[in-house]
Amino acid sequence: MGRRVLLAVGGGAAAIKAPLVVRRLREAGFAVRTLATRRALAFTTELSLATVSGQPVATDAAWFAPSGRVLHLELADWADLVLVAPATAADLARAAAGLSEDLLSATIAAGARRVLWAPAMNPEMWADPAVAANVGRLKARGHAFAGPAYGAMAAVGEAPGLGRMLEPEELAARVRYHLSQKDYAGRTVLVTAGPTREYLDPVRFLSNPSSGKMGYAVAEAARDRGARVILVHGPTHLPDPFGVETVPVESAEEMHRAVLERFPKVDLVVMAAAVADWRPAEKHREKEPKRGQEKVLTLVRTPDILAELGKRKRDQVLVGFAMETERGLDRAFEKLKKKNLDLICLNHPTDPETAFGADENRLVIIEPSGRTEAWGKASKRALAERLLTRALGFMQKPV
Ligand code: CTP
Repeated sequence: MGRRVLLAVGGGAAAIKAPLVVRRLREAGFAVRTLATRRALAFTTELSLATVSGQPVATDAAWFAPSGRVLHLELADWADLVLVAPATAADLARAAAGLSEDLLSATIAAGARRVLWAPAMNPEMWADPAVAANVGRLKARGHAFAGPAYGAMAAVGEAPGLGRMLEPEELAARVRYHLSQKDYAGRTVLVTAGPTREYLDPVRFLSNPSSGKMGYAVAEAARDRGARVILVHGPTHLPDPFGVETVPVESAEEMHRAVLERFPKVDLVVMAAAVADWRPAEKHREKEPKRGQEKVLTLVRTPDILAELGKRKRDQVLVGFAMETERGLDRAFEKLKKKNLDLICLNHPTDPETAFGADENRLVIIEPSGRTEAWGKASKRALAERLLTRALGFMQKPV
């Protein structure tokens, strides 16, 4: 995977977010250099970009790189991807016309391998047919676009509209997508994530503290690697990932229906959802008023989705999660066998560093042969990548 990103900052108000874009890119593991147009430096500063990237900023004031090579040629060669963020209407126009009037347009004209544009402008400008035509010309040359999004404009008194630069975190996610190897191309991956809610009445439910982060990380990683991804998720606070088909559900029963319906056309299922095992036997239509000092609830079992998939599976690969507080390995292995899984990932919910809602986790992976492997503490995304690599090894069916 290419790891070198040139952030080319155009002269729009969203340039104030450029240092944050650098931060997010670096957190995602990319080596980042920056280029700023003269206009961009009216909004953000050379010093802030240099500080967060740890590299000098390429500007129109320079012609030669420190290596002695002409700067725009050196930058075009160095970058695996050029992210233009924010990209103004003028930046798009120059690149579409093949002009090389400034360092940004010259770097693109000098044969930058991949270019990802993050336009930011007033909605009227974005809707202008001349801008649309330039976007069309660049797309026809293989350039990619991220946004713009709908939202508030920087200038005071302007109505919100379509023209806002995507947020730095979202831009880093898009870059990652464009630079990932597509080893899941042609595969369909179904991921479940988050908790379920089992309602007693319209305002009360039984649930658990699952944040959904592990499942979302798997869905995003699979998408980046080229899979078609369906994410069936319970209630979470996480934004819908781009390029993923999301299916929001609440109860275990709804999740069961949503998953089973899609199962025949799927290559891999990763059941990261914390499905409630029990639901109230009755769900009251109206809110139950409180009466007396005690209340006895009768609970009944919810469908075991994964066990059902295990029975129906043909050539699908099934990955489950197990959350155990004692006798973890034995119990997880029993579940793997009982539910006919290809892999089970054992979590430790009581470990304070990797408990519910954490960004990091540690897992023990158990295979049907009984072979286990402990994966030490890492980001949920890094663990998701490892899991997908492992699952790929189980796939018999050709693409
Ligand atoms: N699971 C499921 N349907 C359920 C309950 C769990 O599909 N009704 C899935 C989970 O998504 C997880 C795996 O089964 O991938 C194991 O879940 P866990 O709750 O740890 O195990 P249970 O089989 O429910 O066993 P127990 O609670 O008795 O330990």
